[in-house]
Amino acid sequence: MDKLIVQKSMGLKGEINISGAKNAALPIICASILSAETLELSNVPHLRDIKTLSELLRLMGIDVELSTGNMKITANNMTNCIAPYDLVKQMRASILVLGPLLARFGHAEVSLPGGCAIGARPVDIHLKGLEQMGAHIEIENGYIKAKVDKLKGARIVMDVVTVTGTENLLMAATLADGTTVLENCAREPEVTDLAECLVKMGAQIEGIGTDTLTIHGVAKLHGAKHSVIADRIEAGTYVVAAVMVQGDITLTNVRPDTMGSILDKVTSAGAKVTVTESTIHILMNGKPNAVDINTSPYPGFPTDMQAQFMAMNCIADGTSVIAENIFENRFMHVPELCRMGADIDIDGNVAVVRGGQFLTGASVMATDLRASASLVLAGLVADGETIVDRVYHLDRGYESMENKLNKVGANIQRISE
Ligand code: EPZ
Repeated sequence: MDKLIVQKSMGLKGEINISGAKNAALPIICASILSAETLELSNVPHLRDIKTLSELLRLMGIDVELSTGNMKITANNMTNCIAPYDLVKQMRASILVLGPLLARFGHAEVSLPGGCAIGARPVDIHLKGLEQMGAHIEIENGYIKAKVDKLKGARIVMDVVTVTGTENLLMAATLADGTTVLENCAREPEVTDLAECLVKMGAQIEGIGTDTLTIHGVAKLHGAKHSVIADRIEAGTYVVAAVMVQGDITLTNVRPDTMGSILDKVTSAGAKVTVTESTIHILMNGKPNAVDINTSPYPGFPTDMQAQFMAMNCIADGTSVIAENIFENRFMHVPELCRMGADIDIDGNVAVVRGGQFLTGASVMATDLRASASLVLAGLVADGETIVDRVYHLDRGYESMENKLNKVGANIQRISE
C-alpha cells in the first residue's frame, strides 16, 4: 500500500488545475447504459473509482475506451446486467447502474453496497422509488434482484435528500412510460451535471437544479458529447490548503459558482478570495480564524469538506464547533489529528475544536477519502514529517494530489510498497 511522506510547507504559491468531478463522472458514465449509441466524455478525472466503474461496465459487455481525460462508452452489445460483489464492494457508487439497467433492459442483479467507514449508507430510497415505478425487487444472497416489463412514471417523494438516490431515479425515469415527478431531490451540482448530460442524450427533464424534477419518459436516448463539471470538493480541498499554509494560490478550470458555502467559510477565516468564471485566487496572510461548520445538502455546507475544515480549525485562532449532520460516523480523522497534537472533543455528531495548536508530524492512517485529505493538509503545517498510510483512499478521489501540491511548493513524496 502506498504512503505519502509530507514535510512542513513554508507556503504554497502558484497555479493548480482542477480536474473533473468524480461524483459527476460516476453517474454520467452509468448514464451511457441508457443508450445503444456512444457517449463521449471529456474532463474525466484520472481516478481509481473511474477505473473500477469502467471495469464493471466492461464485465457487462459495454465498450469502454478510456484515455487521459476522455472516455467513449458504447452499450450496444451488452452480455449481462450483473454488478458483482467484488467490484461493488470496492465502490458503492456502482449502485448507479441499477436505474439505467432496469430502464433499458427491465432486469438487473446488483450486489447490495455494504456500509463503509463513514456510515451504513442504506439504499432503501433508491429501491422504494424503483418499486413505485413498477419494479419487482428482491434481496437474495446479498444481491438486489430487480425486474420489470417496463418502468412506469410515478410521483416519488424521497424521505431523505440523497444524491445517488436522486441520480438513480432520474436516470430510470428517462425511459419510463409516462411522466415521473421526483420530489425532495438533491440539488448538488453533480446531479445538475448528470441531468444536463441526459438532456443532451434526448431526455426530457424539467426543474433541473431544483428539488423537484419532472421527467417525461421517451422511447430511447441517443449518443452525446459532454464535458464533466469541475470538482468543487477537490478545489475546496486546495482552497483550505492555501489558507492553512498562508499561500497565494490560483485554481484554474474551476466553477466558483458551485462553491458558495466553501468560499464564504474561507472568507470568514480571513482569506482574500478573488474569483472569475473559471478561476479562484486565494491569498492568506497570518493564521486563519476558526469557523463553525454545519454540514447539510447543497447549497448548504458539503459534508465532503468537513474533514478538511477541521484540519484548518486545529491551527486556527479560536474554538469552533463542527456538526456532521449527513453521515453517522464521519469523524474518523479526529483521533489521527489528535495524534498530531490537535485538541478536539467529540460528543455524538458534534466536534469541538480548540484551535491555536502547533501540530507535530506523525504516522497517521487514512480511513476514508476526505479524512485522508485532511491528514495531508495537517501534514503541510505540522512540524517534522507526517506519514499518511493507506493512500489508496486518497487516490479514489484525488488525481495525483502530491504532484498538484508539489507544483506549488509542497514537499510530498509517495512511497510505493
Ligand atoms: C454522495 O453519496 C457522494 N458520493 C458522497 O461523496 C457524498 O458525501 C454524499 O453524496 C453526500 O453529499 C457520490 O456521489 C458517488 P446520500 P450518497 O445518498 O449518494 C441517507 C465522497 O467523499 N440515505 O446523499 O451515497 C444516507 O445514509 C463521497 O466523494 C438513506 O437513508 O449519499 C445519508 O445519511 C463520500 N437511504 C444521507 O441519506 C438511501 O436510500 C445522504 O446520503 C440513501 C441515502
